[in-house]
Amino acid sequence: MIRPAVASDLAGIAAIYDPECERGLNTMMTRARTREEWSAWLREHDHPRHPVLVATDGVHVLGWASLSRWSEREGYARTAENSVYVHADAQGKGVGRALMLELLRSGEAQGVRLVIARINNGNEASVRFHESLGFQTIGVMPRCGQKFGRVIDVRIMGWQSTLE
Ligand SMILES: CC(C)(COP(=O)(O)OP(=O)(O)OC[C@H]1O[C@@H](n2cnc3c(N)ncnc32)[C@H](O)[C@@H]1OP(=O)(O)O)[C@@H](O)C(=O)NCCC(=O)NCCS
Repeated sequence: MIRPAVASDLAGIAAIYDPECERGLNTMMTRARTREEWSAWLREHDHPRHPVLVATDGVHVLGWASLSRWSEREGYARTAENSVYVHADAQGKGVGRALMLELLRSGEAQGVRLVIARINNGNEASVRFHESLGFQTIGVMPRCGQKFGRVIDVRIMGWQSTLE
């Protein structure tokens, strides 16, 4: 089941994402968010163009996806940035795809026309995943990040709505 996230989902969302921050190279966050920071993050997404969706089996959060503001300048309101994370035990079963299809549908219905994905060099699974959803590579930001002492290139991919 895919539905908008509520505050009681935050522990499940954090359980998926915090280890990626502390130990993984798929996100440039380098530490786990505090509970207060997670609550503030959910409040920031209390906006129709910037939803947070969760996939659940009725008990557990299997994965989550969000659209975030790409720029504070109002002229860029039609552009948003996505995040998508699926629990390791639930990967490869279509959960990420179901989340993203609903996220793109819902963002498009609210006027989002370009969705940007920032993907760290080496995350080939995410590149293939985003390609399978129609994202195309826009470019690479060379050596723009650093985590665990490694300098990281970031690939920018984009999904374009066919609507005006
Ligand atoms: C990337 C991620 C979100 C994909 O979610 P998922 O639920 O595992 O993916 P799905 O099962 O929905 O796969 C949909 C399609 O994506 C592609 N894909 C997914 N995982 C893949 C992999 N490991 N290698 C190659 N292609 C892959 C395939 O085309 C797949 O379609 P198919 O099953 O018909 O071949 C998930 O693996 C994940 O959370 N990874 C760690 C966090 C991360 O990297 N997030 C993105 C940061 S930019």
